[in-house]
This record gives sequence, C-alpha cells and structure tokens, in this order.
Amino acid sequence: MSDVTFDRQGWSFDCDPSLTDSQVLEFCREGYILLPGVVDDDVNEKACAWLEGKIPASPSFVPEGMTEQDLQRMRGTHEPSSIFLEQWFIDGVLLQPQLAGIMRSLLGPKVGLPILASHHATQCPQGAQGWHHDADHVFGPELNFVEVFYFPQDTPVELGPTEIAPRTHLGPTQRDIAEGGVFAEGPAGTLGIHHQSIMHRRGLSTATGLRHMLKYNYWRAAAPQRDWLAEDDFDLQMADYGGHNQARYVAHMLYWLMGMGDDYQILGGQAWPWRSPNQIGRSYGYQASAGYQPDWRKAKQDGYSN
Ligand SMILES: [Fe+2]
Repeated sequence: MSDVTFDRQGWSFDCDPSLTDSQVLEFCREGYILLPGVVDDDVNEKACAWLEGKIPASPSFVPEGMTEQDLQRMRGTHEPSSIFLEQWFIDGVLLQPQLAGIMRSLLGPKVGLPILASHHATQCPQGAQGWHHDADHVFGPELNFVEVFYFPQDTPVELGPTEIAPRTHLGPTQRDIAEGGVFAEGPAGTLGIHHQSIMHRRGLSTATGLRHMLKYNYWRAAAPQRDWLAEDDFDLQMADYGGHNQARYVAHMLYWLMGMGDDYQILGGQAWPWRSPNQIGRSYGYQASAGYQPDWRKAKQDGYSN
C-alpha cells in the first residue's frame, strides 16, 4: 500500500490507486464497497468520546474566516464537521490507507477531503427506516463525489447498521419496507463507501445502546481517466455490467470514469453492454459509432435519451 500524502492547504490528499479494472466496474455495478473494521480501535474510541462530548476539542487548525467559537457551536449540532480538524481523525479516519486507495481510484488525483459531516446518532432499539434515496441525489454517469459511512463502535446487525440496496444508484427505485438489503455491519472502525444516490435506510435494531454513524463525501478534482490498476485480461466487451435496465448505465459510468463518456453509444436490445453466459459469440454493437446514450432521468419511455 502506498503512502498517503496530505495537503492541509489544499484540503486534499494523494496516493496510488488500489482498485483494478474489475473492482472499478464492480463499484459502478453494485454501488458500494465495505471495509469492515479498518480504523484503529484507539481512534474509534476517541471518535465516540468526541461525539459524546467526553473529551475536549483540539482542532489542528482553525479554517480561514472561522473562530474557535464557530467550531464549538458546530460540534453541538447534527453536523459536527469540526471533527475533521482533529489530527487523530484526519490521520486515522479521513486518510485511512485502504479507503484512500479506493477514493484515489474512483476520483482521480488530489482527492478533495470532506467539509461537511452528518452525525446519525440512534438510541437503539429502533424500527427500520423506510428505504430512500438521500436528498439532492443525482442519477448520471458522472462520479464527481463518493460518500462514506463511518461506524466508530461495533455495529453488528442487532445495532441497526445502515442497510444498502445494491444496484439502486442507477435510477429511481421502489422497494418494499419488508425487503432486505446488505448491512454495512462490522466491528468498530467499519467504513461503508457508496454512491451517494444508492437506496438505503437505517436498519432495524434489537440491541440496546447508542449507535453513532458519521456520513461525509470525498470530491473529484481532476478530469476522469483510466489510471487505476490495469488488468491484462480485462475485456470491456465481455465484462459483466449487470442485468436488464442496469448494464447500459453501469457501462456508461465506467466509460465516463475512463474519460470516454461522450463517445459511449449503444444499439439497445441484446447488443453490448448486454451479454448472457449462454450466447455463442461476443455481443454485437461494441464500440458502435452511432446509437443511443442511456436516458438517466427517464424522460423517454424506452429509457434511451436521443
Ligand atoms: Fe439516508
């Protein structure tokens, strides 16, 4: 794993990318990556104590135009973003090496660090939330920001970790409250990396206790290009882009990440990026010079935009 370089002035970091072609495609298709228990325990304990007001604030710097009082006020809200100024949080959570390598792969060099924290503190037990896409989500091939859930305490299923509905970041989704998803469960220090548009909810909790979760976004600073880890045998024509009404969007997102979003043209029907394990040849329509782009906002009945 490469070193992570922190630029405090630019509020960004850099490091080597860690995801391969297949893993970037998997993120485009599934919409999330879980890193169970990757933050050190002493940092998790500090995070809980800080969020519960049990240790004093010790900001490593005061952002321009702000005062210590501003930071103190902020700490008492549901958006305690001043936790990002604690050096132990920067080193242990924001720049956690596995997370950093993934963000660098998905967002390019000089990744912008979070500026707004959302603190979801829940007294358990609690019922499950309804499934929802968060406010201000956008459906499109662009990946300009990536969101993270951070769970600073052990968060087994009984403590109601966030539940994610895979492959729902591609468009508006209906999902019955009785239908399950994938729990972002894990020991203290679990990070749930996900597309901000993905459908999710606070899961049902049956245990007793306080569940903290911090949510924040990392930001792209450079135009997208395919500069993650190349795989010699990765085959864009035969890769698995998902099922009906998914594959066209997933492939578009991957093409956008490779810096080729504008050139992406598809024929529809059984043509690429659709494929089945039961076909006897390669999908038609790969690298079509004319065709359609997916209609992400569903203005057209058939889901193609032009
Ligand atoms: Fe939400």
